[in-house]
Formats: sequence, C-alpha cells, structure tokens
Amino acid sequence: MNDIFIPQSEIERQKEIAKSLHPITNGKKACVITFGCQQNENDSELMAGILELCGYEITDNSELAEMIIINTCAIREHAEIRALSEAGQFKGRKANNRNIKIGLCGCMAQQSHRREQIYKSYPYVDFVFGTDMHYKLPEIIKTSFESKKRVSFITEKSHDCFGTISEGMPIRRESSYKAWVPVMYGCNNFCTYCVVPFARGRERSRNKDDVIAEVKSLVERGYKDITLLGQNVNSYNGGCDFADLLDACASFDGEYRVRFMTSHPKDASSKLVDVIANNKNVAKHFHLPVQSGSSRVLKLMNRKYDREQYLAKAMEIREKIPDIALTTDIICGFPTETETDFSDTMSLVKTVGFDMIYTFIYSPRVGTVAAKMDGQIPKDVSNARFKALSDMENDIAQSLNEKFVGKTLRVLSDGVNKNGIPCGRSTQNKIVTFDKVVPAGEFADVTIETVGAYALMGKIK
Ligand code: 5AD
Ligand code: SF4
Repeated sequence: MNDIFIPQSEIERQKEIAKSLHPITNGKKACVITFGCQQNENDSELMAGILELCGYEITDNSELAEMIIINTCAIREHAEIRALSEAGQFKGRKANNRNIKIGLCGCMAQQSHRREQIYKSYPYVDFVFGTDMHYKLPEIIKTSFESKKRVSFITEKSHDCFGTISEGMPIRRESSYKAWVPVMYGCNNFCTYCVVPFARGRERSRNKDDVIAEVKSLVERGYKDITLLGQNVNSYNGGCDFADLLDACASFDGEYRVRFMTSHPKDASSKLVDVIANNKNVAKHFHLPVQSGSSRVLKLMNRKYDREQYLAKAMEIREKIPDIALTTDIICGFPTETETDFSDTMSLVKTVGFDMIYTFIYSPRVGTVAAKMDGQIPKDVSNARFKALSDMENDIAQSLNEKFVGKTLRVLSDGVNKNGIPCGRSTQNKIVTFDKVVPAGEFADVTIETVGAYALMGKIK
C-alpha cells in the first residue's frame, strides 16, 4: 500500500514551486468556493493553506479574488447544477479581467463526462484537477500561468485503482475550535446509486500515527470539537482498527469531543459502540445511514445488510448508550421502490426513532448500476414519499427531545446565531440556544426549558 503515499521529496518540491510563485501572486487574493460534504470542506481548507503558501491572501469574497477555485460535489444532480451555475457567474468577470484565474476541482471534475462538458461549455475555466491532486496545486497554478492554455491534472487510472495520500502540506482552518481530520479517503463499497467510489477512488487510510499526532496537536492548541472523516470510517486500516483509533484520539487530557463521519452499518462493530459508550471524550452521536427500511431495496442498493441487521445494530447502540443521538440518511424513490418498500422505511424510522434524518430524493448518477435499472420512480411519487417521511420525522424528533427538558447539558458555544441568539452544540450535536453570550469555543452548562424538533432552548446554569 506504500505506493499510495506521495513521497516527501515531491511535497517539498511543491513547496518550492509555491515559493517561486510569490513574485506573481504578491498582493493578490484567492478564494475557494466549496460545495458538498465535510470531506470537501476539509479539502478546501487544505487548498486555502496551499494558496497562502503560494503567496495569496485568502478572502471569502470572490469579487476581490484573482484566483478562484470552485470545489465541486457530484453526489446528486442538484449539487452539480449549483457548481456549474457558480462557474457560469465568472464568465463576465473573466471577460473584463484576463488576469483572473478560475480553477475547478472536486468530485465533478474527476468525472470525464463533466470534464468534457466543462471543456466545451466553460472556456473561461483555466484549470481542472482531480480529488487527489490538492498537494499539486502550486505546480497546477504555475503551469496555468506559464502555458497560458487551459490545463488539466487528473489521475486517469480506472476508478478501482486511483487515489493517493499526501501528508505535510499546510492547512488553513476556518475555525479555531472545530476541526476536520480525515482518517481515510475513497470508498470500495459501490452502493449502486453512489458516485463516490468513481469520484474519490479506492479506500486508503492515513497512518494512525499521523492521525493521532494531528489530533494531539489540535487538542494542545485548544480545539474542542474534532471530527474524524472518511466515507466509511469503519474500514479504516492504517495500523489499527477504527475503534482503537477513535479511542486513542479521544484519550488526551482536557475537555474536548471527538466525533466521526460516516459509518457503514455493515461493519459498525460492537467494539466501536463500546468505545463511544466508555470514552467520555467521544461525542454521543452516531450517524448510521440506513438508506432504506426494505431488505429488498437494500439488496438492490448493494448495502450488504438487511432491515433486521440494521435494527439489531441500532438497538445495541441505544441500549449501550442511552443518551446517544442516532441520525441517518434515507433515499426516497430508489428504482423499483414500491409503496410496501416505502412503508417498511417508515416503520423502521418509527421503530428506531432517529434524532434526525437527512432525506434525499434519488438522483441517477452517470456510471452507476442504479442509473441503468428499470423502474425509475416518477418525481411526484418520490416527492410525496420525501414529504411523508419528513413530516413523520418532525414528530419523532420533537418527542425525543422532550426528554431533555429539565436536564442540564454541557454545550460548546458557537457564539451567536444569525439572529443574534447565543447558541452552541451538545455532545449529541443538538443545536442549543441559551440566554447569555458565551465566547465561541468555550463550554457552558445549559438547563433545557423548552424544545423543538431540531433545537433545545435553555438558560445558562
Ligand atoms: N441520490 C440520492 N441520494 C444519494 N446519496 C448518495 N448518492 C445518492 C444519489 N444518487 C445520499 C446517501 C448518502 C448521502 C451522503 O447522500 O443517502 O448516505
Ligand atoms: Fe457511497 Fe456507499 Fe461508499 Fe457511502 S458507502 S460513499 S453511499 S458507495
């Protein structure tokens, strides 16, 4: 597996190129625009760090920037349309100022049919690069300046053998108290609806020592909420299993929380559940995507577990960790989904009682098995199922939250929300609002007085 690690000599070479760009980038601003998941947010923070190394000043305002990088998502069609329309916004600015550089990266850029479309229809995009190319950003930028032509840096290998890991490039984190830490990249599961294995390549794990050292350093620098990231953290294999990695990351001195995203139910082990139950620094939140409550649909999705196995795992989690928040992802309208399949999903949701569901309408993805299946479901049917599920979940979430009334929760403050109300998150990742401002990144005890479906309201103790 060693061949997946980019040699340190190459990382140093990129850093040298970054420095050599300073005469060109001096005084200029760069902006990274992010779509999609936490992995993309983490990648964008890395790119911002590398752009700083190249001499750019980072700005959130793309109108001030002369270097604009759009980090795209391909999980559903809606995400792709949004990223393309963002790219379209720059046509006029590029026409007015030839010096502006526009780059496109992320899951959409990794797919050849989208690259062809970008090449044909978005001539003002200067460079495109793939999901494992961030470390090469200095070279990509240099090539783009020198060649004056459009450039593309993509691993062209087939999806089952592409993917690298690079360590040692700088990162510019958005928050001073919340951090993402990737533990693995890619996915080998090939759920039949999902583009991720094609867009992010094969599973590969960072070395445990690198992950643990990064978490230790974050804790020492005062980070309080650290999320270990991977498409399926349970298949982590960088020197230990994921349960041991999580335990080690959550065993430093001080008050902080470690979370993780995302787990595949087929290999969420009892050992992992025990670590969450027993380590006080592991957040009491388990995101366990079920996708459907019908064993027939789960089989078609290639999820490798059935309804009963999922229910058993969910019950084990609820029994061992009574104060856990259990959240999930569900897809409505997967090809051939019948009313009976959907009512199986509704009944599973009722039985488990999820604290929150991320509900998605099935979106066919080029290259996936499900996109070619007969029995695609009409939009109005999927929409109706989406609504029925959301309505039921609202009631479930509300009643689960009632148990917090009168209890005192330890809340990590996020300062104030957009309405100026003091807010933060509990260990369950529930939004909590309260009466007095607490500086962002500090813990406070809040006694809960009233609850809604997606927020708890209380007073500082
Ligand atoms: N259509 C709809 N939802 C999807 N997801 C992944 N692929 C698709 C698709 N093609 C959802 C799954 C996954 C979440 C991140 O996105 O529920 O868990
Ligand atoms: Fe996609 Fe399935 Fe991999 Fe999750 S486990 S990223 S849904 S293929």
